Amino acid sequence: MLPDLHVKISSDAKLDVHSLLVSQDMMNKLDLTDKQAITLQFGQSRFTMHVAADALLSSENLKINPAIIAKTGIQSNMPYAIINHKHIIRIGPYIGIAANLKPDRSKPFGMQSFFIRQLIEQAQSMGAVCFAFSMKDLDLIKAQVRGFTCHNNVWVKGLYPLPDVIYPRCNSEFNRYSVRQSLQKMGVRYFNPPGIGKWGTYKTLIQNSRLVKYLPDTRLINSFSDLNEMLNKYHHVYMKPITGSQGKNIIKVSQSVRPKSYEYQYHINQRQISEKAGSLQELERKLRSFMGTKRYLVQQQINLLRKDGCIMDLRVMTQKNRNGNWMVTGDAFRIGKSGSITSNISGGGSVGDVQTLLNHYFDKTQVREIMNDIDFLALETARTLETRLGPTGELGIDIGVDQHGKIWLIEANLKPARKIFSLMKDNESRLLSVRRPIEYSIYLAGF
Ligand SMILES: Nc1ncnc2c1ncn2[C@@H]1O[C@H](COP(=O)(O)OP(=O)(O)O)[C@@H](O)[C@H]1O
Ligand SMILES: [Mg+2]
Repeated sequence: MLPDLHVKISSDAKLDVHSLLVSQDMMNKLDLTDKQAITLQFGQSRFTMHVAADALLSSENLKINPAIIAKTGIQSNMPYAIINHKHIIRIGPYIGIAANLKPDRSKPFGMQSFFIRQLIEQAQSMGAVCFAFSMKDLDLIKAQVRGFTCHNNVWVKGLYPLPDVIYPRCNSEFNRYSVRQSLQKMGVRYFNPPGIGKWGTYKTLIQNSRLVKYLPDTRLINSFSDLNEMLNKYHHVYMKPITGSQGKNIIKVSQSVRPKSYEYQYHINQRQISEKAGSLQELERKLRSFMGTKRYLVQQQINLLRKDGCIMDLRVMTQKNRNGNWMVTGDAFRIGKSGSITSNISGGGSVGDVQTLLNHYFDKTQVREIMNDIDFLALETARTLETRLGPTGELGIDIGVDQHGKIWLIEANLKPARKIFSLMKDNESRLLSVRRPIEYSIYLAGF
């Protein structure tokens, strides 16, 4: 394998469709011989070819018939990575980003358009072919896909072979088991499988003895006696829908002992509501109407650090690198809106630098220990969840630090946003967070 080799591919109508014209220098670098039969592979499209050396061709060039080029979606002026592995010459890799298509020419993928454009540009700079597509435009019968790429800030539609790797950034369509299975059978790899929810996450992580001490006591609510037992034990608990996100539908419940009464808080449209109940029956009746049919878990409250009275916790972005190893890309504290029971940015939270904030509460040695602990927890969580999820490229991990400096795992998110980096104006981490899924895709594709 020669991952650092790049070529430009141009068309020559005089060539027959089975001829691949290569410079002598490239013949040597790819370990080819004249007239050798090889397979030329673009994504999942393969063409049987005969190699011919051309003394006049400059070193970084290949020539093929335009009919072949038309089937590959490659551009003649772009350099692509090339490898020769057991007589299969692969160009690319081909990386497809599955996303939700919107009827807007300048932003075909809505709010994600800027992010996707950065991904495509990053991939192109590394010699990969990268396009974004809607799952509706994936044709498994013809083994082709209609997608968009970006050149000089302009979105261009084109037809592509099935990619080597799919990076899903779309909603539910990709999660259909049958689609994922068909793709896999056709040789397409993908990462970031569908999530397993907060309860599935907890059940997976609790089996790792190294993680047990970081996990707040958590139960699935089967009946209200589960809530009652947790309230008797901890007095303050969080109730969360197992498939929730963005802090939505979360309820904080507190129990006073003498006289026994309950208080609970939740958000509706960013407004915080606080209510009381005099008995467990009344609490159950009132909460049931808020919970609807959603399944909830109940969790001991973590006594989170507070800044000016507002709770705060961390978002840690963990991602796979070029060698398929988990790394921490960056992190930030999220500080909840005044009076809020959640820190989520979407609920009005702001951000702050981790080390600077920790320095306010703890001494230097403690801060160093806490920060090491945070990195260990984030990476161990990612590694452990991956054993259950299958290939995963990135996880946004929420971690709480309590008032004693003990750290706790709150949850792990697939499809994490890059918002913390933009809000922190940390452009370096943001760019790294864009580069890493491309690097991991290249690794998964075997380049
Ligand atoms: N057990 C808990 N103790 C204290 N705060 C919590 C607890 N669980 C959640 N929170 C707060 O609520 C926020 C949202 O909870 P989280 O589990 O991350 O759900 P979501 O998927 O909606 O983001 C957390 O970032 C944290 O600020
Ligand atoms: Mg969260």
